Amino acid sequence: MTDPGDQLGAGDAASGGTPPPDADSSTDSGPVDALRVEHLSKTFPGTRALRDVTFGAAPGQIHALLGGNGSGKSTLIKILAGVQHADPGGTIAVRYHRIAAERTTPEEARDLGLRFVHQNPAVFPALTVSENLAIGNGFETGPMGTIKWRAMRHRTQALLDRFEIPAQPSTLVRSLRPAEQAMVAIARALQDQEGEQSGVLVLDEPTASLPAAEVDHLLSALRRYAEAGQTILFVSHRLDEVVGFADQATVLRDGQVAGTLAGDEITENRLIELIAGRALDRLFPDMPEVVSDEHVIEVSHLSGGPLRDVSFGLRRGEVLGIAGLLGSGRSELLKMLFGAYGHKGGTISLEGKPVRFRDIGDAMDAGIAYVPEDRGTEASFPAMSVSDNLSAAIIPNYWKGLRLRDRRARADARSAIDQFFIKASSEQQRMATLSGGNQQKVIIARWLRREPKVLLLDEPTQGVDVNARAEIYALVRNAVAEGCSVLVVTSDFEELSHVCDRVIVLAGGTVTAELRPPDIEPARLTELAYRTKEVAS
Ligand SMILES: Nc1ncnc2c1ncn2[C@@H]1O[C@H](COP(=O)(O)OP(=O)(O)OP(=O)(O)O)[C@@H](O)[C@H]1O
Ligand SMILES: [Mg+2]
Repeated sequence: MTDPGDQLGAGDAASGGTPPPDADSSTDSGPVDALRVEHLSKTFPGTRALRDVTFGAAPGQIHALLGGNGSGKSTLIKILAGVQHADPGGTIAVRYHRIAAERTTPEEARDLGLRFVHQNPAVFPALTVSENLAIGNGFETGPMGTIKWRAMRHRTQALLDRFEIPAQPSTLVRSLRPAEQAMVAIARALQDQEGEQSGVLVLDEPTASLPAAEVDHLLSALRRYAEAGQTILFVSHRLDEVVGFADQATVLRDGQVAGTLAGDEITENRLIELIAGRALDRLFPDMPEVVSDEHVIEVSHLSGGPLRDVSFGLRRGEVLGIAGLLGSGRSELLKMLFGAYGHKGGTISLEGKPVRFRDIGDAMDAGIAYVPEDRGTEASFPAMSVSDNLSAAIIPNYWKGLRLRDRRARADARSAIDQFFIKASSEQQRMATLSGGNQQKVIIARWLRREPKVLLLDEPTQGVDVNARAEIYALVRNAVAEGCSVLVVTSDFEELSHVCDRVIVLAGGTVTAELRPPDIEPARLTELAYRTKEVAS
């Protein structure tokens, strides 16, 4: 049997069989790509995650990698990073250096000039900028094994200047703006390039958890790095940030390249068509007016943690949005309502009666459901099957008729998989091996199927593709039509403006404004979220 990887030959791995880059980077066939993958395929048991993927990015280009949940984006990045191996036959080339993708190691990827920023938390918020950078590069030590702090501060300052990050080496990372924290992660990944900026930087969903203004800040930084010669490949689900920013966009669908667009061809409609395989008429559902005045939840003068004196009501059948920046107390507020975070003062009433949940079991019994932001660690059971994960919150429903339980749970799981467009090889697939967005859909599906009175959603569509995003909101709307009330926190203010009956702004731990249509408008929400003083609305 011949090894298909042999076609490259071991010695070729370093030279790629192409001319060495003596003169300049152009040949007869035009400039060589900074990054090029060819015939990349990847088979998992039961899934072909990538099929014969070929695309390239020119030096200094910003190249977006898009595709629905489970289309193969993260798999592709893991292969580039050498942490997963492709099926035989595929190659990865950086300029003139080409390697076989079936046996790449992280060291080889590094030697090629590939650098990675994985999804957050990419930095250690409680450490200084200097310490964060040292973690990527090792601490420089003197002859006695002592850390050379002066040298480190010096080096850090040079990096901060180079990446235009407005901070001191001794600044705690958590005190930086979220976009600047991401820039520290980028500086850390690129710090050993030593002035030469011709490498390839790969980022998996760098903007997923950033609010709009932070996204702009980070994107302009990426643009500067690209202008300095860095080639950038980044994954995103936010089409609005890809349009007008990426030089080229490659869209994956079911593991295949559905198309590559360049420049002005990159429009939201074209991207949606390529991602979904068809045009989507509408992303957001119609919004019926809320008629009920009855408050399901009444919060008054609530304080504790970052929150102080928070008061508002949630009406039956209402979708109430909370606009707030990271650290505004938005996530703590949802946790308090779910009995997962104690409050010091104030009261919470449910259907007119004051409640004090001792734990989340109490809150669940009272009909409250909660989808946390950090769905990886807080809400899922990675080692269990999709089916078990779907039923985790409704297990009592299966207790009756014990013998039927398993069969019914599986049949239910199959219907939920269809209903929520969950891409899984079967309901028995292990949760940990689903793509990021599909894990999120499983958790949201689990709670929606419980038919709660009150649904608390923290960043429900982060990392979820356009198709599923529309679907999730349609399902939320259905739940609302049946009397469920929803409190939703999202950094995507555009989304808030489309799905909420009303939005309250949380800034500095307190409610500073309240908006109703037609005033719920992304630019207005951004402006308010940054202002910590109360404003008349
Ligand atoms: N270790 C694994 N075992 C089995 N299947 C896997 C494994 N890792 C990934 N897959 C499958 O490969 C497919 C592609 O997953 P991948 O994580 O690359 O998707 P993605 O495009 O990054 O999606 P998302 O936008 O949701 O993050 C999915 O169907 C996923 O279930
Ligand atoms: Mg992914």
